[in-house]
Formats: sequence, C-alpha cells, structure tokens
Amino acid sequence: MSNHAVDLGDDQLNDRVAAGVAAVERLLHDETNRGASFVSDKAQHLSEAGGKRFRPIMSLLASEFGPEPGNPRVVKAATVVEMVHVATLYHDDVMDEADRRRGVQSANSRWNNSVAILAGDALLAHASRLMSQLDTHTVEHFAETFEELVTGQMRETIGAGEANPIDHYMKVIQEKTAVLIASAGYFGAYHAGASKEHAKALRTIGGAIGMVFQIVDDIIDIFSESHESGKTPGTDLREGVFTLPVLYALEEDSEAGAALRELLTGPLEADEDVNRALELLRASKGRQRALEVVKHYLDVVTTECEALPNIPATRALRSLASYTVARVG
Ligand code: IPE
Ligand code: IPE
Ligand code: MG
Ligand code: MG
Repeated sequence: MSNHAVDLGDDQLNDRVAAGVAAVERLLHDETNRGASFVSDKAQHLSEAGGKRFRPIMSLLASEFGPEPGNPRVVKAATVVEMVHVATLYHDDVMDEADRRRGVQSANSRWNNSVAILAGDALLAHASRLMSQLDTHTVEHFAETFEELVTGQMRETIGAGEANPIDHYMKVIQEKTAVLIASAGYFGAYHAGASKEHAKALRTIGGAIGMVFQIVDDIIDIFSESHESGKTPGTDLREGVFTLPVLYALEEDSEAGAALRELLTGPLEADEDVNRALELLRASKGRQRALEVVKHYLDVVTTECEALPNIPATRALRSLASYTVARVG
C-alpha cells in the first residue's frame, strides 16, 4: 500500500502531507543510516520496507491546526513516532514469532531473534537522539507513551487471567496501539504551535483512530489473505492471542461458538487446526460484533472533529478513520 493511497480530499492538503511524508522518509533514512553498516542494514530492513506511514500522516494532519504545519520540528516528531513504531514491530515479531512483515521476511525470520531485538533497539537509540533535539516536554511525553505501550504488550503476554477477556483486550489495545497514534496526533499539533485545546482533541482523535486501527488489524489477521496484509493470517491464533472477533465468537451460543470453545484452549500448532478455527470464525458473528465496536470509535472521531475548526484537515481526519475501516471492506 503506498502513502499516496489516502486521498485527503483537498489538493493542497494532499501536496503538503505528501511533502511532509517525503521529508519524514528522508530523515528516517539518513538517521538510520548511521553507525556500523552491519547495524544500519538490519535497522533499515523494516524501516525501508514500506509500511503505510500512518502515524507520520497523523502527525502531519494534526500539525495543520497550528500556525506552522509541517515545519521541521513536526517532521522530526513524526519521524520519532515512526521509528518507535518500527522498533516495536521488530520486537513484536520476535514475541509473536511472526515470519512476515511489511510484505518482506520479518527480521527474526531473516536473521534471528537476537538480531531482531538489537535492530529494534538501534531504532530506539535513533529515536532518542532525534527527541533530544526537540524539547524535554517531548521526551517526557514519549516516556509515558512508551511505558504504556510496553505495559500493553506485557499485559497481552500475561493474558487476561481472571479478568473479563473483552475488557482485558480493550485495555491491551488502548495501551499497545492507541496511545502511540494518540501521541502522533498530539505531537503534530504541539510542534506546529496549535492551542492546548486542539492538541488535546487531536490526541483523543488519534487514540480513537488507534482503537479502530488495531481492531481492524485483528479482523484482518483472521479474515484476509496474506497478500492483502503483508503478514501471515492466523498469526494471533497460533500464538494463543485471542482478539476481539475471536472473543465474541467464543461467547456465541451457536454451533460455531461451541466448536471454537473446544478448539481454542491455547496456542494452535497444526495448520489444520488454524484452518478449522478460521472457518468457524467466518461462520460466527465475531467479525460483525467487532465492527460494531469500531463504529463506536468512529463516532468518537466524528464528535471530536465537530469541536475542531472546519478546515480541510478536519475532514481529512474523518476520511483517515474511514480509510482505516475500508481495509476490512
Ligand atoms: C502494525 O501497524 C501494528 C499495529 C499496531 C496493528 P501498521 O499497520 O501501521 O503497520 P505498518 O506501519 O503499515 O507496517
Ligand atoms: C502490534 O501488535 C502492536 C505493537 C507492535 C505495539 P500486533 O501483534 O497485534 O500487530 P501485528 O498484527 O503483528 O502487526
Ligand atoms: Mg503482538
Ligand atoms: Mg504481532
């Protein structure tokens, strides 16, 4: 998927955001190109494999609400967010034992876990250096964001235990995904000199889009083909990570629900079990119910956008949210 796939609904805005994304790409490349080549080639494996650059786009759009949209500090902050995101992808693929990412082999699969972990760490080092060129408020905000992200990944790893599994899932995705996209919105606004109120609204909008984003990603893991997502479908099931559509299907008072309750008691190893589970999930209402939750967060985006000035970027934020959902069709 190219960055240009998103039509933001206004030619000048499209041009400004495209220029901003290009500047982010350059900075990302130059900053990750430093140091020993046997480190930079690993750190650039995923950072240059593409990706939607969704978080930088979020920052750039949020920067439209300040007097200096897309200024170099916004570009720097957007690059930091993407670097941190990519770092977490390296680490996430180790934890999830994923073999594909961004349409290429994951780093753990191409090299090994140690290399993948260190490549992620290298990106965090680059992100820290760039952050230090912004201000201490940014560093502090990032520390909080990253702490929450790590807490979400840890919460997911530990599992729901006695907690309600759906509440647990919602908390996990808030922390592991929504918080970083919320920060992308916040930083874009803050570094463009937007008002506190607008920065806060953009943080909320980013968070809601983040929830939509992760639920949709989880639906895709179950209901799409590898060539559409650039990842291997069923990865979550194989790991015994039950996402929202699965949790709803497991609750269901139907034949598919009963069969799933029997099948999904832990990680699935055999391909035939994964395929059987995918088939049962398709027969359940899991997807539909997960999409109802998505609708709730889309409504949050709409409400928050009503409080923002009526500029092209506000309409673009709404399209960004619906574009996220369009990925599941
Ligand atoms: C993947 O994020 C991880 C999730 C939070 C679902 P993206 O779907 O934004 O991945 P890239 O950046 O486009 O590869
Ligand atoms: C993505 O987690 C969230 C982070 C990387 C912090 P997932 O494991 O759900 O995402 P994918 O499906 O591998 O991209
Ligand atoms: Mg994961
Ligand atoms: Mg994963």
